[in-house]
Amino acid sequence: MAAFLQTNISLNAIKIVPGKYSSLTDHQFRAPYRIRCAAASPGKKRYNIALLPGDGIGPEVISVAKNVLQKAGSLEGLEFDFKEMPVGGAALDLVGVPLPEETFTAAKLSDAILLGAIGGYKWDKNEKHLRPEMALFYLRRDLKVFANLRPATVLPQLVDASTLKKEVAEGVDMMIVRELTGGIYFGEPRGITINENGEEVGVSTEIYAAHEIDRIARVAFETARKRRGKLCSVDKANVLDASILWRKRVTALASEYPDVELSHMYVDNAAMQLIRDPKQFDTIVTNNIFGDILSDEASMITGSIGMLPSASLGESGPGLFEPIHGSAPDIAGQDKANPLATILSAAMLLKYGLGEEKAAKRIEDAVVDALNKGFRTGDIYSPGNVCA
Ligand code: IPM
Ligand code: MG
Repeated sequence: MAAFLQTNISLNAIKIVPGKYSSLTDHQFRAPYRIRCAAASPGKKRYNIALLPGDGIGPEVISVAKNVLQKAGSLEGLEFDFKEMPVGGAALDLVGVPLPEETFTAAKLSDAILLGAIGGYKWDKNEKHLRPEMALFYLRRDLKVFANLRPATVLPQLVDASTLKKEVAEGVDMMIVRELTGGIYFGEPRGITINENGEEVGVSTEIYAAHEIDRIARVAFETARKRRGKLCSVDKANVLDASILWRKRVTALASEYPDVELSHMYVDNAAMQLIRDPKQFDTIVTNNIFGDILSDEASMITGSIGMLPSASLGESGPGLFEPIHGSAPDIAGQDKANPLATILSAAMLLKYGLGEEKAAKRIEDAVVDALNKGFRTGDIYSPGNVCA
């Protein structure tokens, strides 16, 4: 797919046709900010989009997704003002911090944020507060995007790319709703200290307040309601106190959603069930760390982590949209990366971030169209396809 990244307009859909990635680095500092109320062309809606390409393959896949957004938007009367800002390792190299204030401000003032990927070997030995990944945590926390939607769908065209047997993988269509701003990722106390025996101890705290559980559970019930009406809450309530409260609060909310069938599952069992019989799942709701792990697992069912988009949403303010894969420094700059997760994240941006469902559908259709034509990147290639 990597060579099929420039878009071409057709009447009904965008066609993804051969072309090369263009690097974003030339215009990475295209400041100053555009003013939000810039006059739109008559009849056009105008949105400010913050683009945070990041590291590794991030700039390549963001460049493609930007083109696709522009084409889909223009077909639906939408105009975008893109503002590209450095984040992660790229920002560390430029200004010495993973999330510069200017980047955060541009993100916060935008209508939606599209992020590529963060991290790389170069910064692996940095002190914790100077690690590129910290940018992600600050963004998630300070934008208050507590609800992370991670769909995992096995497309019929890619069923052979799944690591699971065809009959197990085909038809899988689930949504993982991951809590994103709480739990062990942010809980206090945390850190590495010395105990009374003079030994080093590392501490992280899994902690959830009732309101944090309630708000993510509501997002999950609402999500399930719009899908097949089944919600599975994943926890470790046989061991963890935070999970006991999680289960209690989720159960208490169920009466408000009588049309949703709620079940509970321990996370170890869920990890097993995901590869034993993934079709049993419709919507899954879980905490931050379990959602991190299970969504990587679910991505393999779909054929490649290069396929999975995500949306992170809060109660107000812009949403953050990003592929769930990392920065893949080993293939960066070689035009090999699968851009579909980022392109599909752009579709989620339109749908969940801007409420522009028609434009989102154009992107989803274009992806299916490209796959139907047999175009594949290496990660989803099988014999008979066009390796691009
Ligand atoms: C993810 C990633 C991040 C996370 C890493 C890069 C910090 O794995 O978004 O799933 O753990 O949340
Ligand atoms: Mg992860």
